[in-house]
Amino acid sequence: MKFKTTPYHSDLLKDSDRLAVFYEAIKEYSSNNQLAYDLGCGSGVLSYFLSDYFEEIISLEINKKTYECAKENLKDFNKIKVINTDVLNYEFRKKADLIVCEMLDTALIDEEEIPALNRAKEFLKPDGEIIPKGVINAVELVNFERHYLHWDEGARHEIMSDQIIYDEINFKDEINPEFKTVLKLKATKEGLLNGLKITTFTKLTDNIIAGPLPMLNPSLLIPLNERQVKVNDFIQVELKYIMGNGIESIETKYL
Ligand SMILES: C[S@@+](CC[C@H](N)C(=O)[O-])C[C@H]1O[C@@H](n2cnc3c(N)ncnc32)[C@H](O)[C@@H]1O
Repeated sequence: MKFKTTPYHSDLLKDSDRLAVFYEAIKEYSSNNQLAYDLGCGSGVLSYFLSDYFEEIISLEINKKTYECAKENLKDFNKIKVINTDVLNYEFRKKADLIVCEMLDTALIDEEEIPALNRAKEFLKPDGEIIPKGVINAVELVNFERHYLHWDEGARHEIMSDQIIYDEINFKDEINPEFKTVLKLKATKEGLLNGLKITTFTKLTDNIIAGPLPMLNPSLLIPLNERQVKVNDFIQVELKYIMGNGIESIETKYL
């Protein structure tokens, strides 16, 4: 099928590994197959996958232009209803067997995955499922060249500690978007420390976990004040952010 898209959604469609993990996850949950929501449906590609297995699909998209593409792409599928709305204002009425919500980004900071799911989850049947099931967030100490907050697109950076998991989120739990933790990392290299690298692993189902992909959660590089470190130094950093409030909400300080 040929999709009409915006340039951003065209890039999302070109990431075939991203599409493959979502397709496999949808297939895994296809036995309870009445109603599915597709939150932030974009071009409509995941609704298209859902149409193989579900009797009814309600697809919500906030952006007018993107909504128009999805509406056009899915016009021949009577079982899919595409609605131009903010998930946070949508009046859910029916309980679903499956909620698909791909408003993902690294550590869920910059997009509204958590606020959207906190709202929509009430409309999931007791035996219903959410795709993805959750995320696992990990962090490392780094030295990087471009000393400002940015997503990893291959620019040089040197890893200066082991990677530790600092948070695991299960989307079925009630989630407080205000996140705060103290990271305790041991330097494995001597040199100039100037940042943190956050990597998010997406748990599509119990059986499918995806690491960062070009269009699914590339790692995030966060600057720290520069500090000389030696091997085995313990570095403690307080990390705070609000999930869904944007990368501007990230705060760090050495303890
Ligand atoms: C990462 S894209 C994924 C699109 C599509 N699900 C896919 O997998 O190709 C996220 C989409 O969610 C939409 N979105 C973001 N916040 C939203 C909200 N509050 N309500 C509805 N849609 C939203 C964006 O406009 C964007 O199209």
